[in-house]
Amino acid sequence: MAQQELKDWLKARVSPRRFLHSMGVREVVAELARLHGVDAEPLMKAALLHDCARELPDEEMLARAVEWGVPIRDVDRESPVLLHGRLAVETARRELGIDDPRVASAVLYHTAGHPDMSLSDKLFFLSDHIEPTRDFTWVGELKAMAREDVNRAMLMAIDINLKHLRATGKVIDPHTLELRDVLTDR
Ligand SMILES: [Fe+2]
Ligand SMILES: [Fe+2]
Repeated sequence: MAQQELKDWLKARVSPRRFLHSMGVREVVAELARLHGVDAEPLMKAALLHDCARELPDEEMLARAVEWGVPIRDVDRESPVLLHGRLAVETARRELGIDDPRVASAVLYHTAGHPDMSLSDKLFFLSDHIEPTRDFTWVGELKAMAREDVNRAMLMAIDINLKHLRATGKVIDPHTLELRDVLTDR
């Protein structure tokens, strides 16, 4: 499927704010991919897919996961938003016939990270945090680090996420902690 078609598909499914965010991720990931010598094309596709299920109400996320046979963990039940990457992969496969594993893993792991992430997945994860519509104080520093040292940038992004999750009392996906361990053991 061509990028333009995918853009139209996404625009019809999400809010204007989410659409702009996705376009921002697409722009940033293309630049980071070129910089780090990774194929940009699947990541640009992933950008247009990754949050397609992000705005579904919690009950709808859980219902879809049940319907599609997506495994539901205890943490997903507690915080169904953790399912939105996996649901996006399934949506892309079922509705658009997209099953490129490079697209799938970037989309799958963008939600909480995973210890098995590839360089390509990490660039995607970072782009989700630093795209132009994000205006947190740490964006500039993270952006610079994403260009210089991807693993250090990942650690920085994860620590920002964990701090936020802890401060707001939200559940932490165990994959995030496993990824943090992998990054600090290096
Ligand atoms: Fe997301
Ligand atoms: Fe996103």
